[in-house]
This record gives sequence, structure tokens and C-alpha cells, in this order.
Amino acid sequence: MSRMMAYRIHRFGSLEEFRPETVDVPDPADNEVLVRVQTASVNPVDLKTLAGHYPLIGEDQLPYTLGRDFAGVVERVGDGVTRWKAGDAVFAFVGQGPGAYAEYVLVDEHALARPPRKVDLFTAGAVPLAALTAWQGLFDHGGLKSRDRVLIHAGAGGVGHFAVQFARYKGAEVFVTASGDGVEFVRELGADHVIDYSTQRFEEHARDMDLVFDLVGGETQTRSWAVVAPGGALISTLNEPSQEEASKHGVRAERYTAQPDGAQLAVIASLIQDGKIIVKVAATYPFDATHEALARQKEGHVRGKLVVDVRATNGTYQAA
Ligand SMILES: NC(=O)c1ccc[n+]([C@@H]2O[C@H](COP(=O)([O-])OP(=O)(O)OC[C@H]3O[C@@H](n4cnc5c(N)ncnc54)[C@H](OP(=O)(O)O)[C@@H]3O)[C@@H](O)[C@H]2O)c1
Repeated sequence: MSRMMAYRIHRFGSLEEFRPETVDVPDPADNEVLVRVQTASVNPVDLKTLAGHYPLIGEDQLPYTLGRDFAGVVERVGDGVTRWKAGDAVFAFVGQGPGAYAEYVLVDEHALARPPRKVDLFTAGAVPLAALTAWQGLFDHGGLKSRDRVLIHAGAGGVGHFAVQFARYKGAEVFVTASGDGVEFVRELGADHVIDYSTQRFEEHARDMDLVFDLVGGETQTRSWAVVAPGGALISTLNEPSQEEASKHGVRAERYTAQPDGAQLAVIASLIQDGKIIVKVAATYPFDATHEALARQKEGHVRGKLVVDVRATNGTYQAA
């Protein structure tokens, strides 16, 4: 049986629990595809899972390989898989399944899509989780339409930088909160109105929103009730919004969990291929510096995405 390197945790805790180990390369079941990972991207959920604060991953799933999305090349397919074959370039969000900080990852065939040829596999690996979260939040849950007014909290981050561009592409009027050099970054991505949350109160600059897309939660979410128009929606990736407040303001409100979706990812890939959406990679880390990548994510203020080059272990480390 062949072996591979994978970054796993055996118990919840700090970054010291996150270690490279040699494990068996898994075998694909009927509807699964085994992918040789080129790039995996860093997401806040890695840190939440590591700390034991992600409710969908419990003690019974340990030891657990972190890393929720990737780009790579198909190595082998399960007996029931007809859409993919060895050698195909693919990318995907793996959901709660086995993680992508590993030389090989197993994925459900329906989660996969072909990466856009316009960008390399390093860049493509930064896309799946963040872009699907933005797409599903704005369109599936938020029902965003052309000419709607949308406020995106945290536009400069991984999810936010896709959300700003998708909302703009849809033809919405886009209000965005950001800070520091994130202000210029989201303006370049096409935001119509940028609010520096470190110096301005968004309530004074964004009113009558058809949709608030909340990537921050907490006080930012509670202050957002005041800016959603009656009949509008408040959609969050974080806290469950209060249904009492929602009905008081005549607003639809929900928290959702992003789902793997190969068909949606294929649509996103075609927008990237056509040059309508750009992917911002803030920094890449070789596989043996995956710790540093997570530590950098923990510091915050990343513009776009951090990625781990799983094929590189030569110390070509490029700090964010
Ligand atoms: N439910 C789901 O399925 C799901 C999926 C994906 C992500 N998420 C969650 O959604 C959140 C965003 O994810 P991400 O990948 O985009 O994270 P990220 O790349 O780390 O970005 C976070 C962003 O938040 C900004 N920010 C911090 N405080 C803010 C505030 N008060 N107002 C406005 N912006 C603020 C930061 O900007 P500054 O640098 O200016 O501080 C940064 O750009 C995370 O908590 C993540 O866990 C949930």
C-alpha cells in the first residue's frame, strides 16, 4: 500500500497539535475520486476546527486532516465514476470530508469541477470554498438580483473578495466594509461604495439595503438590522441571526453552511476563464511551511487568499 504525507490533528488545541504524518493513501469508493493535490487553500475554518470550535467536526472524527479545498490532478477513480479520469485537472471544496493538506485527497465526484485554464493550479486552489460560500450566500440564500443594493461586510477577505465581484457582476449596487489597504483593494475589485469600518460607522453610509451579507457576525450583525430595508434579507456565515429582530424589521434572516457543488464551481470557473472574476492570492507557502500559513491566517488582515503548494517542500517560502 502506498503512503503519503498529511497534516493531521489527533486532538483539538493550538497549532502544535497540527503535525505532518505519514499515512496510507486512501482508496476511492464507487463514487469517489482520488486526487493528487497541487495546492490547498487556507480558510478560517481550519483554525476553528483545530481549536475544537467547529461544531461539524467532533472528537469522533479524530485524527482529522485539515484543509478544505484544493486544486490538483486525478490519480484514480472509483468504479462508478464516469465523468473523471486519471490525468484530469480538477478543483473542489471537500465539505467536511478528509482534508486537502495532504499529498492525496478523496473527493465525491459531484464536488469536482475543471479549473479555469486562464489561471494556474496554484491560483485555482484558492477558489473553491471561498467562492462557493460567496455565491451561495449572495444568490441561493440572499436572492440577490440586478440593481439590488447589497452591503458586504468584510469585502477584503477570502470570501469577501469573491462576493464583491459576484455582486458587481450581477449588476447590484455594492457597498463594502473594509479597513486599511483593504479599502483600496475592494475599490479595485469594483465596490461602488467603500466604508472604512475602522473610522466610519457603516449605518451612516449604507441604508435601505436589499441584502446584508455578513461575514463578521457579533456586533456588526446586530448593528446591521438598522440598514436592511423591510422585505430585504440578512444572510450570515457566522452567528444565527435573531428571528425576533428579523420579524420586528420585516426582514428574512438566516445563517448557512456552504456546501460542495461541482456544477456551481464550474460556473465560477467559467467567469474566471472569461476574465470577469479575478482570484487574489496574497501568499503561497510550501507544504513543509503549512504551519506558517495557518499562523499567518490567524494574524488576520489577509487580502484575498493564502495557499499551500503541496508539491513544494524546497523552502521557496514567500511571506505575506
Ligand atoms: N458558514 C460557512 O459555511 C462559512 C464559509 C466560509 C467562511 N465562513 C466564515 O466567514 C468568515 C469570513 O471568512 P473569510 O474566509 O473571508 O475570512 P478572512 O479571509 O480571514 O477575512 C476576514 C475579513 O474580515 C475583515 N473584518 C474583520 N473585522 C471586520 C469588521 N468589524 N468589519 C468588516 N470587516 C471586518 C478583515 O478585514 P481587516 O483586515 O480589515 O480586519 C478580513 O478581510 C470567517 O469567520 C469564516 O469562518 C463561514
